[in-house]
Amino acid sequence: MPSEKKNIKSIGVLTSGGDAPGMNAAVRAIVRTGLARGYRMVGIQRGYNGLINGECYDMGWRSVSNIINRGGTVLYTARCLEFKTQAGQAKGLAMCKEKGIDALIVIGGDGSFMGARALANQGIPCIGIPGTIDNDIACSEYTIGYDTAMNTAIEAIDKLRDTTQSHDRCSVVEVMGHHAGYIALNVGIATGAMAVILPELPFDFERDILQRMRRAQSAGKRHYIIIASEGIVPAQELANQIQAATGIDSRATVLGHIQRGGSPTLRDRVNASLMGYRAVELLDEGTYNRVVAIKDGNIVDYDVNEALAMHKTIDLHDLEAFNTISI
Ligand code: ADP
Ligand code: F6P
Repeated sequence: MPSEKKNIKSIGVLTSGGDAPGMNAAVRAIVRTGLARGYRMVGIQRGYNGLINGECYDMGWRSVSNIINRGGTVLYTARCLEFKTQAGQAKGLAMCKEKGIDALIVIGGDGSFMGARALANQGIPCIGIPGTIDNDIACSEYTIGYDTAMNTAIEAIDKLRDTTQSHDRCSVVEVMGHHAGYIALNVGIATGAMAVILPELPFDFERDILQRMRRAQSAGKRHYIIIASEGIVPAQELANQIQAATGIDSRATVLGHIQRGGSPTLRDRVNASLMGYRAVELLDEGTYNRVVAIKDGNIVDYDVNEALAMHKTIDLHDLEAFNTISI
């Protein structure tokens, strides 16, 4: 809840954790909204690393030109272990003072919000914006980059389908998601995959792969696409197991970091722009230490402690739908 309104003159912005398409649209919106409201806007490069090292520069209207359509992040990003320590956070706070940064907007995931909370606890008002392709931020039903990453994945998998079908093969495709299966489940639905392997559920090779293949075979299917979320069974190992157990020629494809790149989709650009706008609006209203989120399609915000304590998981009804139609 808004504490006492502070005299904020300068707002810093940084991107942290894995980059995600749409982060640039958020930076652009933040910088321009801040300038429009009379703030000095400071870009901090390379996440909390850059904050500790003072990699900061003043941003003007044109410094965010021609970035709305670009993937990656013009502010660069990093994972900074030092910032998890009190000594690292003290350095960050000292640098905020030195550079005249009165408040901070952090675009990243839960880890990045923990960093923001650490600064907030030391008197720097912070706002978090969910930015990660994984969609694994509990307080928000959507995160910047998620839509683009899934579209990148389905474009690649549609191509794989052509060759998989032509050879009557099985393709195992590993997608990203960290410890969450949002990308895998939705990409599975969108590409008409035969099976998805998700980190949220225990994996059983006989039940989840072989039985489903037999069922599909008996319904006349001759090629198979399996979407495996990263970190469960290596795609090549799974393809080998399938080939050994069924005799069906099987191949593995790891989509990897291509899922993190590319021009953001309309959904990512619009949501990132509106969340960036809202982040500055919150600071301007004197509402501090919040995470901007999307709930029921609307932009909302939560106290950072509340946001970090929330939980969400995949929709089991969606999984049931997938299991029924993926034959
Ligand atoms: P994400 O923000 O996508 O969850 P990470 O978990 O890698 O990604 O976190 C990004 C960065 O946020 C870390 O490299 C670190 O600088 C900072 N961070 C993560 N956890 C904490 C923490 N508990 N306290 C302070 N800073 C943290
Ligand atoms: O959080 C985004 C993400 O791409 C995850 O899907 C993946 O597990 C991880 O980052 C990969 O991290 P790195 O870029 O350090 O290899």
